Amino acid sequence: MALLNILHYPDKRLHKVAKPVEVFDERVRKLVKDMAETMYAAPGVGLAATQVDVHERIVVIDVSETHDELRVFINPKIIWSSDERMVHEEGCLSVPGIYDDVERAEKVRVRAQNEKGETYEVDCEELLAVCIQHEMDHLMGRVFVEYLSPLKQTRIKSKMKKLERAM
Ligand code: NI
Repeated sequence: MALLNILHYPDKRLHKVAKPVEVFDERVRKLVKDMAETMYAAPGVGLAATQVDVHERIVVIDVSETHDELRVFINPKIIWSSDERMVHEEGCLSVPGIYDDVERAEKVRVRAQNEKGETYEVDCEELLAVCIQHEMDHLMGRVFVEYLSPLKQTRIKSKMKKLERAM
């Protein structure tokens, strides 16, 4: 296993659109393991392959307090979402230190595959619903700060550049 390098906003590679996974082989299973290890080490509750510069539709999430309920979403699709919306404060490993409110569907049903290629469906609510929508945005090349006002985005960009220089 290995820790992967996480891209930081406003890196252009975060805007690439991920491609579906077609072959569920050892390479995919190793990537999932490395992504999980990277997420736990950060620490974070979710990570999309896009964030580690792999542009394939793979997401790992663990919203449990005990950090032992890893969920793997490969080729995820939202097949139903509630009309009810919720506002939740979000953060992102690609935008360290920035937290802000984002409005999303309160509940979603997701169809995805696991690392063996088996299809499953899961109903997501609360933090899991926030997280899967946030991570699926990454796969489409979207970072959560893009929901914020242009002024906030400009401020965040300059903050990130300063941080990058300091590292
Ligand atoms: Ni994120």
